[in-house]
Amino acid sequence: MKVLVVGSGGREHALALALFRDPEVSQVYAAPGNPGMAAVAELHPVDAVDGAAVAALATELDVDLVVVGPEAPLVAGVADAVRAAGISCFGPSAEAAVLEGSKAFAKDVMAAADVPTALAHVCGTPDEAAAALDAFGAPYVVKDDGLAAGKGVVVTDDRDVAAGHAAACGRVVIEEYLDGPEVSVFAITDGETVLPMLPAQDFKRVHDGGEGPNTGGMGAYTPLPWAPEGLVDEVTERVLRPTVREMARRGTPFTGLLYAGLALTGRGVRVVEFNARFGDPETQPLLALLESPLGVVLKAAADGRLHEVGPLKWRDGAAVAVVVAAHNYPGTPRTGDPITGVDAAEALDGVDVIHAGTAVRDGALVTSGGRVLAVTAVGADVAEARQRAYAGVACVDIDGCHHRTDIAALPVEAEETR
Ligand code: AMP
Ligand code: GLY
Repeated sequence: MKVLVVGSGGREHALALALFRDPEVSQVYAAPGNPGMAAVAELHPVDAVDGAAVAALATELDVDLVVVGPEAPLVAGVADAVRAAGISCFGPSAEAAVLEGSKAFAKDVMAAADVPTALAHVCGTPDEAAAALDAFGAPYVVKDDGLAAGKGVVVTDDRDVAAGHAAACGRVVIEEYLDGPEVSVFAITDGETVLPMLPAQDFKRVHDGGEGPNTGGMGAYTPLPWAPEGLVDEVTERVLRPTVREMARRGTPFTGLLYAGLALTGRGVRVVEFNARFGDPETQPLLALLESPLGVVLKAAADGRLHEVGPLKWRDGAAVAVVVAAHNYPGTPRTGDPITGVDAAEALDGVDVIHAGTAVRDGALVTSGGRVLAVTAVGADVAEARQRAYAGVACVDIDGCHHRTDIAALPVEAEETR
């Protein structure tokens, strides 16, 4: 099977690597990919959000499957363009990707499907926002309705800051504050059958101890030894299946990766957000532990045959990913800094270096984005995977870079409680 991966971030590198390791996959291509992906895929400089160009490339390469990684191409309809060209595609239609693209839409689906989530008001004017802020009280949670690359949400005790964010965004969702640890549960679905993955945790704040501004994610690990027993089953029954059923009922079946971002509150599991694609960086440790052949599973999902695939299989042990970020991230990152030590890190037992913001300039690897790479390691347990990941991070040298030192430092359930 030949597979084209669309996108160029860490998630796409992790996908390409896992596809490369699937014996059923004979060739991986990437559009446009990144320098790390070049080791496992043939790169084609095609714009990931250009559906016509991606479909033309997939046709020309005669691939059996296209896997669309990021949300922007999904929302732009790249999966629709690929399917219209008669090629199997893993990734939701533009209509179904609205589950991530609009927080108000997601709330509507959850209400219809009786999925537990924070109480919320959709507000279009400063007066509506003010009323909602006062109804819920502090801490205030204000979310831009549209896609905002992880930067559209403000959680604050300062009412002026909350009202200011609402005014700056226009249409916002203002909701009840959820406390408790955050967990990500991903499911692969063909619009009907739902195959949940292991629970993972993402570390969203830039600094140790959950301090500082939100980022796209500074590290992640799986599984979560402290997660309540039966969590994945509960999430599958109460969140994932009802949501997939409701999307199908609306005539916009969701095919692809349904990402449930959850808070484990004192009153039970609540959905914080849905995403319509694999999470980054949770995908790095999840795919490092996945034993099932990824290409076979994603192709079955794309073709509506997921019921033929049994539950996903996992290696024993755990996996941890630690993100190395560029100078000034999550502000505007400095680019062009040389990156050394990647080979030394990869020579370590159980370690893969997953690229995200890297580029090759004059034959040398340099930074080109905020989250530069994620050192990902597997081990017999979280402690060993963590130790290996940090040994890998110690090998990598980038001027001005930074990383969190407490990724997967158990027990973390309290730490990631905001
Ligand atoms: P989102 O983009 O919806 O995932 O929100 C980004 C981050 O904001 C989440 O990962 C949480 O840490 C925080 N957040 C979102 N919604 C809430 C909420 N209702 N209560 C508390 N924190 C929240
Ligand atoms: N890990 C957060 C995200 O992918 O949105």
